[in-house]
Amino acid sequence: MNVTIKNDNYHIPVMLKETVNFLEPWRGGNYIDCTLGGGGHSEEILLTMNGQGNLIGIDRDSEAIERASKKLGNFQNFQAVKGAFGDIENIINSLDIKNINGCIFDLGVSSHQLDEAQRGFSFRLESDLDMRMDHDQNLTAYDIINKYTEQELSKIFWEYGEERKSRKVAYEIVKERKKTPIKTTLQLASIIEKCIPINKNSKHYIHPATRTFMALRIAVNNELLQLSTGLEGILRKINVGGVVVVISYHSLEDRIVKNIFRNLSTDPDIREQYKKDDILSKRLVKRLTKKVLIPSEEEQAKNPRARSAKMRVISVIS
Ligand SMILES: C[S@@+](CC[C@H](N)C(=O)[O-])C[C@H]1O[C@@H](n2cnc3c(N)ncnc32)[C@H](O)[C@@H]1O
Repeated sequence: MNVTIKNDNYHIPVMLKETVNFLEPWRGGNYIDCTLGGGGHSEEILLTMNGQGNLIGIDRDSEAIERASKKLGNFQNFQAVKGAFGDIENIINSLDIKNINGCIFDLGVSSHQLDEAQRGFSFRLESDLDMRMDHDQNLTAYDIINKYTEQELSKIFWEYGEERKSRKVAYEIVKERKKTPIKTTLQLASIIEKCIPINKNSKHYIHPATRTFMALRIAVNNELLQLSTGLEGILRKINVGGVVVVISYHSLEDRIVKNIFRNLSTDPDIREQYKKDDILSKRLVKRLTKKVLIPSEEEQAKNPRARSAKMRVISVIS
């Protein structure tokens, strides 16, 4: 079916047509959007459902919940829930949902979160070092930058950001914070800029703070553990025949998704790591995307955010 990409300043949904075509919400039943954001995917699912089922939209960001609740307020079969998808099993239990037919994870942050200066995600906009998706959480980017050891910082920048100058960046941060606490995004960005050579003429040029800021965001929000817990959680709960769609924007995220889907698509008898898990040890899934799917050239041209997107999809066999 054809879906038009809507121009929404909050966030342009990525791979919308593909998502809806895999989920087939017109079949009816219960669906979960684990990353509600601006409600772009949710809106399309609801329109396609045409009242034939229910959709729960989850986000850990209260602002996203408030905004999407307003945008989708006319749909009687939609409910927004504030929470982290790492907690998906408890969320499903507390809502007493018995059957789940499909689910989407569209990972990372929304364009709105990135563009809102005071959220502290951007190295271009002055703000306190925050980066929390959920403001009820205590840990902020400030805490990590000012309290973690040099080794811990370097590990975060290397493992989550693949920053080749991770050690130097960590060393300079620790040196600077001895003089004065590092409180703002631009203060941090200028320390990083001193560590990384800039060649603006290179066709591979990215701002020197890109990798460090991304790594920091992943650490603040514990994004990788959230992903593996959330994905395994939904795979315990979803119905046979149910479909799980994941769109990721980072190689580490994609690796987690690929491994979980690949492991569950092999014979239950040879899946060592799920042997002690009552439900996952018996689960068998079919990969509907043997190779990762990426957005069309047309979509990538229209929406720069889509350029790093990778989609993987499974359906549950047993
Ligand atoms: C890329 S945006 C989703 C955009 C959405 N699909 C749309 O079309 O508008 C990702 C959203 O997921 C939320 N998010 C990220 N990690 C989360 C987690 N572990 N639990 C709940 N929400 C999360 C972010 O707060 C953000 O609003």
